[in-house]
Amino acid sequence: MRVCVIGTGYVGLVTGVCLAHIGHDVICVDNNVEKVKLMQAGQSPIYEPGLSELMQSASEAGNLQFTTDLTLGVQKGEILFIAVGTPSLPTGETDTRYVEAVARGIGSCLNGGYKVIVNKSTVPIGSGDWVKMIVLEGLNENHQRVNFDVVSNPEFLREGSAIYDTFNPDRIVLGSHSEEAISLMLELYQPIIQRQFALDTSLPPVPVVITDLSSAEMIKYAANAFLATKISFINEIANICDRVGADVTQIAKGIGLDSRIGEKFLQAGIGWGGSCFPKDVSALIHTADDYGYVTKLLNATVEVNRRQRLIIVEKLQKELKILKGKTIGLLGLTFKPDTDDMRDAPAVNIIEELNRLGAKVKAYDPIVSQSGLNHGLAGVSVEVSVEMLADGCDALVLTTDWQQFLTLDYAQLAQKMHTPLIIDGRNYLDPHRMKDAGFHYIGIGR
Ligand SMILES: NC(=O)c1ccc[n+]([C@@H]2O[C@H](COP(=O)([O-])OP(=O)(O)OC[C@H]3O[C@@H](n4cnc5c(N)ncnc54)[C@H](O)[C@@H]3O)[C@@H](O)[C@H]2O)c1
Repeated sequence: MRVCVIGTGYVGLVTGVCLAHIGHDVICVDNNVEKVKLMQAGQSPIYEPGLSELMQSASEAGNLQFTTDLTLGVQKGEILFIAVGTPSLPTGETDTRYVEAVARGIGSCLNGGYKVIVNKSTVPIGSGDWVKMIVLEGLNENHQRVNFDVVSNPEFLREGSAIYDTFNPDRIVLGSHSEEAISLMLELYQPIIQRQFALDTSLPPVPVVITDLSSAEMIKYAANAFLATKISFINEIANICDRVGADVTQIAKGIGLDSRIGEKFLQAGIGWGGSCFPKDVSALIHTADDYGYVTKLLNATVEVNRRQRLIIVEKLQKELKILKGKTIGLLGLTFKPDTDDMRDAPAVNIIEELNRLGAKVKAYDPIVSQSGLNHGLAGVSVEVSVEMLADGCDALVLTTDWQQFLTLDYAQLAQKMHTPLIIDGRNYLDPHRMKDAGFHYIGIGR
């Protein structure tokens, strides 16, 4: 099928590349000229494991094209994905201006036979009908009559395992009023539904939830709000564990084995971040507020998370007392491992708070340190090696659970430090190993 993906960020590029890999004819459109030039030269503008290789093979097979020309993409595609960013406004509302610009663009150049416009961006409830209205306005202005429908197809991929998640989804959600649109979407995803590209091809087909537009939009927000709440819950339990002397990692195991609870998203630490949870939870709170409903549980989820990020600073103060003039080294900057995404990373708040208290902050991150880019970071010196990071530090803080951090030579790092203190913000390291390496180890609720 002919597919156009508009917006080639973490979601759009992965979607386009994966759909091309399974045999569709894909054109990806982005208005960032530099990004498009890079992709046309065969390079991925983002770090995502396995993406560059797949991008190259799909391009070589002639299934994948990149352009800045929206008209070309829209007129070529029969299925048009909108996958642009939907960040938060300072009020917590969703900034839908990029979606609006794309919908207007589509309306101004849509032609040909029946088309399906797919909202893959996470958009406020009601956006499906809103996009339809904007496209229709454009068509009317140009005196065009094109038969089209809008589908909500929220994305659940995780950065760091986005390719795997696309080929092995837990479910596919499709929301639309149109049977014709749903049937084309089912045809598009058939190889994925039938698990032809899955790790385990013997599993039953991927469940597809077919629903109305608003429910599909709400499913995305409810999923992220639930996961964020689960993390805030275990963090609250961890804080109680810290006080009563229990070990939250054991609690997580003990409750996670209950099939009604499940073991995922029960790792206590410095809280959730990234480009999705914070903005999606806040958008849902805002939507509820628009309808006169106060989201007490979701407000608490956010508040627990805000406080949790700064628990690192409290623990440092408890151990080092005055932080003014102390040097703190952060292991990790990105909001999670295997990504270069720094959006709303807990490390950023920790850096700000440490700076406010007069500490000097250094950091090492496997991706950020090597990229040579400072990702808009202020108040931190990014070191090129863990040895340089540890040199002269009063404490190390593990902020991102990069796998590389499991196998560092901690005994050597302890030697280089002023005081061998490590705060493990992800409960990722083995406390006994750290002790043997000469560290005073402190975790979160353990
Ligand atoms: N990142 C994730 O893990 C994730 C997961 C699920 C859902 N989502 C949702 O998917 C959407 C996209 O997220 P992302 O992280 O990929 O965003 P992103 O910021 O990485 O990428 C957005 C892309 O859209 C492009 N763009 C903006 N305006 C455009 C226009 N008018 N025409 C063409 N291109 C345009 C930008 O240049 C950029 O390349 C968001 O709504 C997000 O909430 C993201």
